[in-house]
Formats: sequence, structure tokens, C-alpha cells
Amino acid sequence: MNKPDIKYLFEPKNIAVIGASSRPGKIGYTIVENIVGEGFTGTVYPINPGGGEILGLTMIRDIELIEEDIDVAVISIPAAAVYDAVVKCARKHVKFLTIISSGFSEVGDLEEERRIVRLARENGMRILGPNIFGHYSARVSLNATFGPRNIRAGNVAIVTQSGALGIAMIGKTAVQNIGLSAIISVGNKGDIDEADLLEYLIKQDETKIILMYIEGIQQGERLVRVLKLATRVKPVVVIKSGRSKRGAVAAASHTGSLAGTDEIFDAVMRQCGVLRAESVQEALEWCRYLSATQLPSGLNTVIVTNGGGVGVMATDACEKYNVPLFSDHGRLQATFESVTPGFGSTKNPIDLTGQASGVEYRLALEKALADPDIHAVLALYCETSMMSADQLSDLIRSVYQEYKLKRKPVLFSIFGGVITEQTITDLNREAIPVYRDVYEAVSCLGAQFSYYRHQTANAVPETAIPINPGLINEIILAARKDNRQFLLADEGQAVLNEAGLVLPKSGIARSIHDAVTLADSLGYPVVMKVVSRDILHKSDVGGVLLDLENREEVLDGYQTIIHNCKAFRPNVLIEGIEIVEQIPPGMEVIIGGRRDRAFGPILMFGLGGIYVEVMKDVSFRALPLNRSQIRSMIKETRSYPLLLGVRGEARKDIDEIVEVMVKVGTILEACPDIADIEINPLMVFEQGQGVKPVDVRIMLTEN
Ligand code: COA
Repeated sequence: MNKPDIKYLFEPKNIAVIGASSRPGKIGYTIVENIVGEGFTGTVYPINPGGGEILGLTMIRDIELIEEDIDVAVISIPAAAVYDAVVKCARKHVKFLTIISSGFSEVGDLEEERRIVRLARENGMRILGPNIFGHYSARVSLNATFGPRNIRAGNVAIVTQSGALGIAMIGKTAVQNIGLSAIISVGNKGDIDEADLLEYLIKQDETKIILMYIEGIQQGERLVRVLKLATRVKPVVVIKSGRSKRGAVAAASHTGSLAGTDEIFDAVMRQCGVLRAESVQEALEWCRYLSATQLPSGLNTVIVTNGGGVGVMATDACEKYNVPLFSDHGRLQATFESVTPGFGSTKNPIDLTGQASGVEYRLALEKALADPDIHAVLALYCETSMMSADQLSDLIRSVYQEYKLKRKPVLFSIFGGVITEQTITDLNREAIPVYRDVYEAVSCLGAQFSYYRHQTANAVPETAIPINPGLINEIILAARKDNRQFLLADEGQAVLNEAGLVLPKSGIARSIHDAVTLADSLGYPVVMKVVSRDILHKSDVGGVLLDLENREEVLDGYQTIIHNCKAFRPNVLIEGIEIVEQIPPGMEVIIGGRRDRAFGPILMFGLGGIYVEVMKDVSFRALPLNRSQIRSMIKETRSYPLLLGVRGEARKDIDEIVEVMVKVGTILEACPDIADIEINPLMVFEQGQGVKPVDVRIMLTEN
């Protein structure tokens, strides 16, 4: 059945409350009280089988007795009675149900939750929840929650998975002078999830910023698509709990064990241009700042201070939050020379020293405003007898207005006694960005710059290479018939060949005699590797030998490998020994791709070889990706300078790494049966000399 437009949830013309109670203190009473008290612009229908009255409204005994069509029904009755109430709503063709009741999947009763969602969907209804505190929408003054009343209307929309935290955020935002356009509790996300709500909030003019508190994600691929659209038009701030390491990913591969759920979440959010806050407090500060300021026209930042110490602290903070300080010294000197004493500094920070009066301080800020190459200003102030704290609020107020008119961000961080503290409180009430702590100020500017960078990044067309998934799928089918969830070496090689990647020449020896014949035919030196489905990480058990220069070394090597593997596990099944053409030394990197449970296909790059799990120097992105995004993934790793060449070494062939990543990404996207594909190592040679995949492992999805 067709789904109703999500607009009706936010802008209903009427709302029914099933479980309205005339007994104050009950949730069913508070919800009606909030709807009426907040001044909902539509009609409220309290429903209670016992009849009676609530706040001057007559209770209706049954929703089906209402003549009008109903846009939203809030359901606040015990879980066991919810299904029957939903049946009635279906008969009445209600569009949206917001189910407050707890007692479903969050306590293990997934079946009942699914039964209700199924019924709703079959009848063209959508469900918010269950297990929610409700929703608020400023556009129609609807407070259908059992949280606090008198919500401050404004331009921040909050979508929260946590109920208690969400209710607390209503109060907290009011204290912090943050106005809300909407707050929605998503609870168990039985039907409606963040992506559905974002689709509305993206288009809604009142909403300037979206803040999401997320605990878990079910349909990550869809969320990523919607988030990418959202961040094109407005900033999205996310708080996600569960930063702890290593989620539930099975460590069947390096990519798998390195891809803790939080690392992937973090990487994917950055990729979408979402701003991830460390804490609720930081998120709210960002929202408050971003909702009151325009994007700058560049990133050149200048610190103006009357105190050297705070200037240094601000410089540290700028480094931490990736805020670039304008460093054209000639230009800075020309701009600020006339207002800086000889013993001050016109290098950034501009240190006017403690001697500066309000007049000089203001002049310096006006000069920064007039300079078109300065794009943002951090104004620091320490209370001194030279600059009276009494005049400070007027000075800040008027400087802020001038900057606002010219759309140039200015953030103040001020330190001092009682009057300074009062100044901060007063100015914050007027939505002027004034902070007690310089780190707080710079963190806000850093968030804005991060959003600016995302907005201005060049969009390059998506990348893919032509491959024939049909051939790959035949290989996969053969493995499935063989009851395997992984591909053998020759099958992996065939998959790579399809994408134009060639592994070193090789063959499998089943006897010591075979080994010598094969090595002779490949040419020396060779590498020998055990072939066994019992051994996943061959190097770890001594199943790989390098640099075998002649027949004698191959004969010895064969016996050594058999001995090592039996020592690892006496009854190990050895299918043979692979003899492989030896690749000249290069820099070893790892390219991985896996199908993440939340986000679908993702790509990994890192420093590779046997040290990969120790170094953990990896980066992730969700597919699809273009070449410039892949390049930025590579740049993000700590070992990137090694690829550029250190201590006189030549630069490595980064372009060719990018090409291999494009190919791995294409394979993963084209073949949904592949769960995990990993080239490790990919040997990288000097610029222009290319790369060589040395080994590949491919795992299949569960059938
Ligand atoms: N249609 C309409 N009204 C009904 C009804 C129905 N099918 N069945 C019962 N009612 C009435 C009841 O008679 C009662 O009214 P009354 O006070 O006049 O007698 C009212 O609805 C509420 O039912 P009651 O049985 O008293 O439940 P309750 O108010 O104690 O609890 C919930 C209901 C939903 C609040 C409770 O079950 C619950 O889930 N609480 C947790 C909510 C929560 O924390 N959500 C997540 C927040 S993040």
C-alpha cells in the first residue's frame, strides 16, 4: 500500500490520543496537557473507553466514532492492548501512529512489534516507535510528548534514539538558548527510522541544523544516501554512543577485525559530511553556534588577544580542531601594525598585550573584519584594568553585529570575574557566540570549517570499471556447491583476473618432485606457501617461505613447511604447496573490501603485510567512491608519508594503488555474494613502476 506523506506526522491537522487519562500524573494525561498547553494549531481528540472529560475536552470512547480523517494517533496504553488499538486505527485509516508504549522488541518481544508494524503497513499506516516519548513539531506548535512544556521554538531539529536523553535535551536546549524546530523520539525504530525523518527535515525551511543521537543502525546504506543529501543543504551533527572498540564483527579477515563498528561508523559519517560530536554538550554547542552563523568564505583564521597565554592556548586548540591560522606575516603586519604595540605581536595570534584598551581592541577587530583575506576571527579577552569589563558586552555586541552583516564568523572567548561571567550569560541569551573556554570556541569553529570543507569539496563523477559479474558468479556457484564459504587460491586469482589484476604466476605442488619441476618452470627465486583450508593466516604458522634461490632450497623448504604446519596442528589437512613467482621488494599495503552489516559495501586501505593488525593504520569508506575520495582515504593514514618517500626514498606509485582500490570496489559492488575480499599484500613499487597484488582472500556471504 502507498505510504502516507511524512509531512502529516510533522504538520497534522488533528491528533487523537488513545489512552488519554483524566488522572493527572499519568502519561496519557500529560500528553494531552502538553498538546493543549503548547497551543497545537489543530484539533485534539482524547480517546478513553470510559468517557469523561480532560482539560475541558470531552473524551471520545472509540476512535472510530470520530467523523474526520485522523492524521496522527498517539497510542499510550499497555503493550498488550496496542495491537487491538492499531486494528481500530486501520479501520479509521489513520495516517501515522506514534506508539509511546514500552514492552516490545526492547524487552525481547520482537514478534509482537513486527505483527503491529505489518498490520500498519498493510493498511497504509506508518509507525513512529514503539517505546518513545513522542514528538514535537514547532510548525504547528505540537508537543505530543510526555516531556516538558514551553519548548523554545527555533531552528534545530533533534532525532533521538534515547528516550531519557531526548527528554533531558528538551530542557537542556532551553537552558542553552537553543530553539527547536522539531524533536522526535524514534525508540525501537520498528518502522520509521532516521532516514525517513531526514527526508522531511532536509526540505523543511525552519530546520537549519539536524542533531541526531544514534545507538544502533539498521538500514545504513539508505541512511548514508539520505545523509549525503542532507549535508548538501544543512549541517547534520551526530552523537553516537558505543565508541568502544571492536563491535560484533567476526574476525575472519584482517579487514573484518580492523573494521570495528565504531571505526566504520566514524569513517562513513565523515564521508557523508556529518559532524560527529564527542559529547552531548559539544553537540549542543555546535548546534547553538551553527544555527546562528553563516558559512565563512574561506578558512584563514586570525586570533586577536590581549593575553599571550590564552593566545597560545587558542593556537593549540586550532591545531586540535583543524582550524588553519592565517600565516601571511607581511599581510598580517600591514593590517595590524597600527594597533599593536612594539612589544606585542602581529604574527598570528595578534597579541595586543594587556596594555590594550577597549578602543585598540575594537580597532583590531575592525581591521580583521575589513581584510578580505581574513575569513574568521577568534577574539580572546582577559579582564584587565586597561579594558573595563563593564563596557565589554556593548563592545562585543556591536562588533558581532558588524561581523554578522559581512557574514564573517567571529567567536569570543573571555575570562575574568563576576562581570565577565555575567556578560557571557547575557550575550549567550542573545545568541552571540561567547565562550568561557577557548577550546569550546575553537571546537565550534572547527565543526563549521569541517562542514565548509565538505561543502566546497569538488564532486568528481563516480568511478567503476567494466567487469563481467557473470563469470565471477560462476566461480562463486562452484564454491557454494562445494559447501565452501571462501574461494580457493586459483578461484580468487580468477576473480581478480576478471578485473584486470594479475597475481604472481604459480602452481600447486602435491609432491616434493612436483615442487622442483614447478620452481624450475617459473624461474628462481620463488616463494612457497602451504595450501590448506585449516590454515587462515599462513605466515603465522610458518607456512610461507620466501627467497628460495635454487632446487636445493626448494627441497628443504618443502619439508620445513610440512613440519611447521604439523607442529601447528598435527592432523592438519595439507592440500599441497603453492610455488609462486617471487615479486621484487616494495612497500606492502593492504586493500580490503567487506560487506558491513550496517553500511553495506565498504573499502579499506592500510599499511599491509604481516604487521597490519599491529599497526592498525587503516582507513575506511562506504562505496561508491570516486578516485579523489579514494585518494583522500590513502592520505588519511599515518603511514602516508612513507608512500610519498622519506629519507631520500622515491615516491611510490599511489595512482596505481587507487586503480586497484577502484577494482576491488567494483568487484564488491557487482557481486553481492562476496562478503569479504582482501589483497594483502599489494606490493607497491616506485612511481611509474606500478603495483603487484601478491595474495588475495575472498570470503562469501552466508547462504
Ligand atoms: N483505548 C483507549 N484508552 C484505553 C485503552 C484503549 N484501548 N485501553 C486502556 N485505555 C485507557 C485506560 O483506561 C487508562 O485510562 P484511565 O486512567 O482513565 O483508566 C489509560 O488508557 C491508560 O491506560 P493504563 O492501563 O492506565 O496504562 P498506564 O497509563 O499505566 O500505562 C503506558 C500506559 C503506555 C504509559 C505504559 O504501558 C508504558 O508503556 N509506559 C512506558 C512508556 C515509556 O517509557 N515509553 C518510552 C519513553 S522513551
